Amino acid sequence: MSPENTPYGGAAGESLTVTDNRTGKSYEVPITDGTVRAIDFRQIKASEDDFGLMTYDPAFTNTASCRSAITYLDGEAGVLEYRGYPIDQLAEKSTYLEVAYLLVYGELPTQPQLDQWTHDITMHTFVHENVKEFMSGFRHDAHPMGMLLGGVGALSTFYPDANEISDPENRMIQTIRLIAKMPTLAAFAFRHSRGQPYNYPDNDLSYPGNFLGMLYKMTELKYEPDPRLERALDILFILHADHEQNCSTNAVRAVGSSQVDPYSATAAGIAALYGPLHGGANEAVLRMLRRIGTKENIPDFIKGVKAGDERLMGFGHRVYKNFDPRATIIKGATEDVFAVTGKNPLLEIATELERRALEDDYFVSRKLYPNVDFYSGLIYEALGLPVEMFPVMFAIPRTSGWISQWLEMVVDKEQKIARPRQIYTGARSRDYAEIGSR
Ligand code: CMC
Repeated sequence: MSPENTPYGGAAGESLTVTDNRTGKSYEVPITDGTVRAIDFRQIKASEDDFGLMTYDPAFTNTASCRSAITYLDGEAGVLEYRGYPIDQLAEKSTYLEVAYLLVYGELPTQPQLDQWTHDITMHTFVHENVKEFMSGFRHDAHPMGMLLGGVGALSTFYPDANEISDPENRMIQTIRLIAKMPTLAAFAFRHSRGQPYNYPDNDLSYPGNFLGMLYKMTELKYEPDPRLERALDILFILHADHEQNCSTNAVRAVGSSQVDPYSATAAGIAALYGPLHGGANEAVLRMLRRIGTKENIPDFIKGVKAGDERLMGFGHRVYKNFDPRATIIKGATEDVFAVTGKNPLLEIATELERRALEDDYFVSRKLYPNVDFYSGLIYEALGLPVEMFPVMFAIPRTSGWISQWLEMVVDKEQKIARPRQIYTGARSRDYAEIGSR
């Protein structure tokens, strides 16, 4: 291909002209959707036997890895939309199961479609008895997120046909199973950590109501969830359902690109979410609030943050440089939860901390606003959940996002097995030295 002549160029198309100062040659690279293709740079060579120019982007901070029609995020403007619907409207008017349908299918369901979907999910909440035994084999103090990770990975062995990923009907059965069984496995993990018997699903209850029942039901014949807690949990599920190409979603896509079954790919997502930089920040917020202890200690704490001693956890975001729209909605939900559970005394400290930070030039000038994790931990704690359960609470709803992204990837003709390049920095072509002469 001649340097001046790329296949995508042309008068109508936008393009970028690059001059290689090593050779003085110019190249025209097409711009599509505000993006250049890294592979177009391969033609730029310093010599005939040169491999060609690569791009280097260790944390994908400026690299689009896919085309996606699922979640739109504008961090500068504080906008989050699922399939074009603003998150605040969905949190106010929708339910988690309806949102899961929207993410999976791309459109809001009609009433009969929603009824069928709800029925299908509800009828798949049970797991094979051997899954229960598998879960009960973990140590008494096993981390519930580790149990969930292992449990979901194990599901692939219970549904070996799940590897038929080119069959659309098969893909949809696994999608329903994953969304349906995740709360069951999560609740088993919680009960295990308490040394309590596992509760089976109650298919008379809603998705969040059934989950609360599996967590907390003791000797009562019928568990009746408080509708305010049920709704608050549903809202939290809606807010956490998807967040475009975050670390765990990227893991699901990368692992899924090998054409492995969706349970194994989802287990990879859970593993990524297990890490403190992803699913663990709300735990850090609670620890921080406990350490601050009283409102009077806030000014000193802020002074320390500004001096660089530590970070104000639950503030700032890699993408949002404005209010994280999820944080505002969660803050509203705290009131409903505390009306039932009694006020978490840490709420007063959190509210005051937020107020002071938003008045302070340090945070304002750096565009640091509360993120989704600032208030969610307070709600989980009020619901009686230990911090180890926080990432599990994130994984349950994110499953619908992961599986939607996986479904999209599987039929995307442009996707291939994920296989990045590297810049090799090690030694080359050394002769093997016998052990006695090293
Ligand atoms: N407290 C105090 N200063 C901060 C904070 C904070 N929470 N966040 C960023 N800064 C400062 C940082 O020191 C830097 O200042 P300077 O320019 O003077 O060096 C500036 O703001 C830019 O920070 P950065 O580290 O370049 O920003 P980033 O985009 O790499 O980091 C972040 C984003 C979320 C890791 C960071 O804001 C942070 O550590 N926040 C606290 C942890 C947290 O709440 N994480 C949850 C994120 S939401 C989870 C999700 O959506 O899944």
